Amino acid sequence: MSSEDMYIHYHGMIVPKETHSSESLTFAQDFAFKDDDVVSATYPKSGTVWMQEILPLVLTGGDLTPIQTIPNWDRAPWLEEKRLALVVDQLTSPRPLVTHLPYHLMPQSFHNSKAKVIYVMRNPKDVMVSSYYFHQMAGFLEDPGTFDEFMDKFLEGRVLFGKWTDHMKSWRCSELGDRIMYITYEELVQDLPAALRRISDFLGRNLSEETIQKIAKHCSFNTMKANQMSNFSLVPKIYMDSDKSPFLRKGVAGDWKNHFTSEQLARFTSVIRKELKGESFSLPWSLD
Ligand code: A3P
Repeated sequence: MSSEDMYIHYHGMIVPKETHSSESLTFAQDFAFKDDDVVSATYPKSGTVWMQEILPLVLTGGDLTPIQTIPNWDRAPWLEEKRLALVVDQLTSPRPLVTHLPYHLMPQSFHNSKAKVIYVMRNPKDVMVSSYYFHQMAGFLEDPGTFDEFMDKFLEGRVLFGKWTDHMKSWRCSELGDRIMYITYEELVQDLPAALRRISDFLGRNLSEETIQKIAKHCSFNTMKANQMSNFSLVPKIYMDSDKSPFLRKGVAGDWKNHFTSEQLARFTSVIRKELKGESFSLPWSLD
């Protein structure tokens, strides 16, 4: 299948046809946000599915029913994907959602509402590695080619949802004030209970330490990897083949060190540095 058959072009970005359609993208633009909605915004491979586990648990005070009975794509649907129109009426408020859209493509109702956003960022080198394996296992995505070829695509933004730097810049420069919270994938990895406390405070949930520990247990890499509602094992192999690479693959920070040559590191770092030159924010990780 050619890339034209696999992807839709949307505002200069590519998105997979398997999960998106022009109708679903229009549905997202017309979506009516409610004040108590909570959306996690991510560049792909930065911890989206993790937030689909965390948000329902935090918002319900640790009720395990959603994560044990509803697949992640229906329990905290992607704003821009086809599933949302099918399940929107079944979502109970406060509704958890996720999105890969950059800030400037969020619907008007989002700007008019008080809905809160959690933007999860991940070291772009690990994002690229994770994405490389994801392209190998996902039948609805183009073959990534060699690691070196995929790095060029990633740096040029010829990948899902465009350039990592553009996505990050769009959300870092948002004017959302206290409606947005920034957190890193690395914080979640390093101390999940502490990250859950931050998230719960931001969402105005006063969760007990017992509940925080319970949620942390159910959001751990190993528990999620064994949860068929979260590990994509319900998806037919032709779409996602976990024998090639499991969706919940390694779940660590710093796997890029096992993949990048020193030349690739220099190339990657110089492009990202150049693109972020002059920005007022600093990155939470060292690029070297
Ligand atoms: P790796 O491929 O590096 O393992 P997304 O959901 O945005 O597509 O991101 C997928 C990445 O998040 C994968 O990274 C996956 O393993 C990781 N991930 C998902 N749940 C996780 C968890 N509970 N703990 C650590 N990493 C997790």
